[in-house]
Amino acid sequence: MQKNTIKKIYKNYLLVNENEYDKWSKEFFSSFFSRENVFFFSSKIPSEGYLIARKISDEYEILSLATNKKYRRKGVASELLRVLLIKAKKNKIKKIFLEVSKNNFPAIKMYKKFGFYKTGNRKNYYKTITGFADAYVMAKLFD
Ligand SMILES: CC(C)(COP(=O)(O)OP(=O)(O)OC[C@H]1O[C@@H](n2cnc3c(N)ncnc32)[C@H](O)[C@@H]1OP(=O)(O)O)[C@@H](O)C(=O)NCCC(=O)NCCS
Repeated sequence: MQKNTIKKIYKNYLLVNENEYDKWSKEFFSSFFSRENVFFFSSKIPSEGYLIARKISDEYEILSLATNKKYRRKGVASELLRVLLIKAKKNKIKKIFLEVSKNNFPAIKMYKKFGFYKTGNRKNYYKTITGFADAYVMAKLFD
């Protein structure tokens, strides 16, 4: 991916995450996006939401999906997931998977709504203010 494109994507990423504390640094973002298999979608209005994923063989992994706090519960993340599902079908992807904190009720509900189900558990995967939280691995399979 070209440097200017990465710069633009990082700007969108910051806009969406304006109130979050666990942001990826510009350096990390740049090195990450210089890998061929990573891709990014932003919502129609880029400051509303984004999805970052990567292709590993015939699978996609969702690395980050977020909606700006001001625009939540208006279908922004759903639209991004729909775009990902269309891309997955087009590219004959067999599985999409992700990790999500087991305490992240809104996200788990959203993934279930889109046909993802729990396939695993990663103990103490996330560091939190109060300690650690487990992650669920969730996946959706395609025929
Ligand atoms: C999870 C997140 C991405 C949802 O984004 P969103 O744009 O608000 O989601 P949508 O409006 O498309 O909602 C899709 C579905 O998710 C579920 N959902 C979303 N927010 C919810 C909430 N606060 N409570 C309960 N269910 C919720 C619902 O099933 C909803 O469908 P419905 O509105 O028909 O009931 C958003 O809350 C977010 O950015 N959270 C912080 C980052 C994060 O947790 N990312 C996911 C981890 S991988």
